[in-house]
Amino acid sequence: MPAISVSAPGKIILCGEHAVVYQQPAIAIPVQQVASTTKIFAHPTAPKGQVWVKADAIQVEGVLESLNENHPIRNAVELVKKLFSIDHLPACEIRITSTIPIASGLGSSASTAVSLISVLSEFIDHSLSTAEISELAYEVEKLHHGNPSGIDNAVIAYNRPVFFRRGEPLEFLEIASPLHLIIANTGIHASTIEAVTGVRGRWQNDLTKYNALFKKIGEISEQVRQYLSSGDVSHIGQLLSLNHSYLQEMGVSCPELDALVSESLNVGALGAKLSGGGLGGNMIALVNPGESSRINNALLHAGAKSTIEMTLPANREVKK
Ligand code: MEV
Repeated sequence: MPAISVSAPGKIILCGEHAVVYQQPAIAIPVQQVASTTKIFAHPTAPKGQVWVKADAIQVEGVLESLNENHPIRNAVELVKKLFSIDHLPACEIRITSTIPIASGLGSSASTAVSLISVLSEFIDHSLSTAEISELAYEVEKLHHGNPSGIDNAVIAYNRPVFFRRGEPLEFLEIASPLHLIIANTGIHASTIEAVTGVRGRWQNDLTKYNALFKKIGEISEQVRQYLSSGDVSHIGQLLSLNHSYLQEMGVSCPELDALVSESLNVGALGAKLSGGGLGGNMIALVNPGESSRINNALLHAGAKSTIEMTLPANREVKK
C-alpha cells in the first residue's frame, strides 16, 4: 500500500509577537520554502495496533509507546484517537521529516503537529476541517509551549496570511502589493517557552511598562493590516523596525539579531525586526525586489547562517 503524505509550511510573524499572547493582534504569514512532511505507511503484517514512529530531526525511532507520554507526537496521535473514539490505529509507520529549522521561530513544532494530525485523519478515513486541525494542533502546542497564543497553528493550518487576535475569529488579510522579505537565521537555537516565560516575569514586575508596550505593538499590527490592504509597503517597513525596538525593550532580542537588523537597514532594507519568540532564531527584512539579492548577501556576510528570500503575493487589486 502506498504511503499517504501531508506537508505543512513554516511561518513567520510579520508583527505582534509576544504582545499577541496578551490579547493584542498580530500578523503571521506562511513560508512555503520550508515545510514539515508526515507520511504514513500501512503495515498490515505488523502486530495489531503497532505504530512505529521515525523522526530523524528529533532523534525519534521506535514504537509510539516508547515515547514519553508528553511527547508531542504521542499527544497528537492520542488526541486524534480520542476525537474519533478509536482504541488503536491500524498498524503503521509514521515518518516525519522537516526542512524547518527547529527552535528558530519558523513554526517547526506547529507545522509538525498540523501535518501529523492532517495525515492521521486521512489515514483513518475521518475528515477534519481546517479549523479542527488548527484546534488540535493548538492542544498539542499548549502541552509543550505553556501559554501559546494560537497564532502559529492558525497560520500554518490555514496556510494563508492572517490577522490574529486571541479569542476572536481569524481574519485573512488583504494584500494589495507583494511583500519581498528576507528571513535570516542567527543560527542560535532559542526556546519560545523561555522567551514567553521571561516576558511574563518582566510583565508581572512592571505591568504598566509592559501593558503599554503590548498596546503599542497591537497598534502596529492594526496599522500594518491597513497598509497591507492599501499597498503602502514603505510604511510597513517603518512599522516593522519600530516593532523591533519595542521587542528590544521587552528583552527578547539579542546582539546577533540586532546586528542583522542593523545591517539590513544600513544596506537599504525598508524595515527589519526579529520574528517569533526571539533570543536567537530568525529576523526578517522587508526589501525592494531589485535589492533583495544584494541585501541577502550583506546579511550572509554579516553572520547570518542561512537566509530565505520570499515574496508574499498580492491577493487583491488596488483601487487607483
Ligand atoms: C511565536 O511564534 C509567537 C509568540 O508570540 C508566542 C505565541 O504567540 O504563542 C512569541
